[in-house]
Amino acid sequence: MDKFLISGGAPLKGKIEVSGAKNSALPCLAATLLSAETVILHNVPYVKDLITQRRLLEDLGATVLTPELRTQKITAKNIETFEAPYELVKTMRASVLALGPLLARFGQAKVSLPGGCAIGTRPIDLHLKAFEQLGAVVSLESGDVVARAPKGKLIGAVVSFEKVTVTGTENVMMAAALAKGKTTIHNAACEPEIEDLAELLNKMGARIKGAGTPVIEIEGVENLGAAEHTIIPDRIETGTFIVAAAITNGELEIKNCVPKHLTAAIKKMRESGVEIEELNPSTLRVKCSGKGLTAKDVTTEPHPNFPTDMQAQYMALMTQAEGVSNITETIFENRFMHASELIRLGADIHFAGNTATVRGKTDLMGAPVQASDLRASASLVLAALAATGETTIDRVYHIDRGYENIVRKLSSVGANIERVTDNLNLTAAEEK
Ligand code: EPZ
Repeated sequence: MDKFLISGGAPLKGKIEVSGAKNSALPCLAATLLSAETVILHNVPYVKDLITQRRLLEDLGATVLTPELRTQKITAKNIETFEAPYELVKTMRASVLALGPLLARFGQAKVSLPGGCAIGTRPIDLHLKAFEQLGAVVSLESGDVVARAPKGKLIGAVVSFEKVTVTGTENVMMAAALAKGKTTIHNAACEPEIEDLAELLNKMGARIKGAGTPVIEIEGVENLGAAEHTIIPDRIETGTFIVAAAITNGELEIKNCVPKHLTAAIKKMRESGVEIEELNPSTLRVKCSGKGLTAKDVTTEPHPNFPTDMQAQYMALMTQAEGVSNITETIFENRFMHASELIRLGADIHFAGNTATVRGKTDLMGAPVQASDLRASASLVLAALAATGETTIDRVYHIDRGYENIVRKLSSVGANIERVTDNLNLTAAEEK
């Protein structure tokens, strides 16, 4: 298993580019299953989860061509099977996004029920309840969700989610695109990735209004066609780089980003003393104010509020802020795994229930730590960049799921970070 070796203390300075959004590319790739014609997607991030999603499409029978690294040309003309197997779904729960498209186009789908993951049980009951409201018959057969549309067609309906669910909203939007009649989703997720998916679906011929608001209306159509679409930039990668500049007391120009996609996170970090300037609609200049950072409380909530996917990174930042910050996680039941590792680096963090209390500013010292999930890994990288001395981060395959070329990008702005592969013995790296 690969590890990162990070020598902290260097302020990051220079220009860094944001890749395409993992959490938009995943549903957009799934959406290509709705059409027999070719869909071309640009700015697909070159990360592990998208490699897995591409494999799923190919296993189902789609043809996927990659004319260049971040462009995928997908033709789901000859879909021969409607099943996403356990060995794939267990590595990436976003495979459940195949359910809606397969059910809508072929009237059947069989997807392994995804297990939980480090941050929570991650059920998909709301997805399945919504499919039943669209007329599907859903059953659980030896760990697989089996869904069938009587007479092969879903019927438009009013779907009211009792809880905001991002992939649940995406799954229903895709299923409803080919349903008979109109579907209205209430309490829909409003993330920018929902809007991006709706834009792709409408380019394919769907008739979707209201994406990005809590009420989405979908008029079902007979079939969907070809399209070409560019995936939006990754707002969480953008937020991660904002923290990287601030926590190392450096100065970064973050390019190819969309600041309005992470307004709440930018607002909160500005309040804590991070200077964030919009140089143009796709570039931010970030540095720490001379006065340093001040602790500020935050609560994670569905978009447009502070995103749960920035919670771990923000916690790392608050270890360097003067004062006490209370960080409350309301989306997932177990998303503080990074806290115990940050404590190993010298952070002062206590938690009760879903609130972590960080006392700063503490001087962080390098140490061996272990990643547990995607955003926890990012949090540990950020803390290691600010720590004195050397940090080894184990299980970095987590970070490879959602951050493209993170070592190259951070090294290019002055970070002392390298990837060590286990079959090299660590002393070789130490001898350098
Ligand atoms: C998406 O996950 C993102 N993943 C997550 O990003 C993100 O953290 C999450 O939305 C919240 O913003 C992708 O888009 C691929 P949810 P998703 O359904 O859709 C509960 C990352 O780091 N729930 O919005 O799975 C659920 O347990 C990842 O990039 C049900 O109870 O999240 C959670 O508590 C991590 N039943 C809450 O709702 C359901 O049927 C929100 O989950 C569905 C969800």
